[in-house]
Amino acid sequence: MEYQQLIESRRSVRKYADRQVTEEQIRAVIRAAQEAPSWKNQQTARYYCILDKDKVNEMREVIFPSFNKQRTENAALIVTAFEKGNVGFDDKGQPVNEIGDGWGCYDLGLQNAYLILKAKELGLGTLIMGIRDSAEIRKILSVPDSQEIVAVLAVGYPDESPARPKRRELDDILRIY
Ligand SMILES: Cc1cc2nc3c(=O)[nH]c(=O)nc-3n(C[C@H](O)[C@H](O)[C@H](O)COP(=O)(O)O)c2cc1C
Repeated sequence: MEYQQLIESRRSVRKYADRQVTEEQIRAVIRAAQEAPSWKNQQTARYYCILDKDKVNEMREVIFPSFNKQRTENAALIVTAFEKGNVGFDDKGQPVNEIGDGWGCYDLGLQNAYLILKAKELGLGTLIMGIRDSAEIRKILSVPDSQEIVAVLAVGYPDESPARPKRRELDDILRIY
């Protein structure tokens, strides 16, 4: 798919068909995520994918409020996290500037952007969710405390074709000097 069409047609999908995503597809989207740039090429993003239907449903019950639980029926889940205290820190563990671990979050977001676009190319829909219970996720998946859990991504076959939410006018967000 041509790039401009890919980025303009990708939508957050909140209704999925009852069709299983494969491990091969998950590997392909994570491999795409790995192509993203990262601070000193540190690649601190970490991914936990839940493909098993029963496990997904168990998790949906406890990690989401009802609206995100409902929106993720039939989808696979990818918990995205990053290793804290690396990106944006010097050799002595001091933050290089005021952003601190925000740079780790930045790198993860970049990788996740690549991920969701690759999913789109493969005919899959995605939903990024920031409203999730990270403590429950940490317990269920044994995510170490050294990692910050950030977004949970739903991945699956779309069962809806959402309209494109309006974007701001370019000149509202851009200043050229
Ligand atoms: C960091 C982040 C967190 C989000 N959290 C949620 C969420 O918890 N639930 C949800 O339904 N959508 C969530 N979204 C999806 C946004 O609402 C969506 O991207 C936005 O409305 C633009 O729509 P589009 O993705 O179709 O372009 C989130 C998106 C981002 C980037």
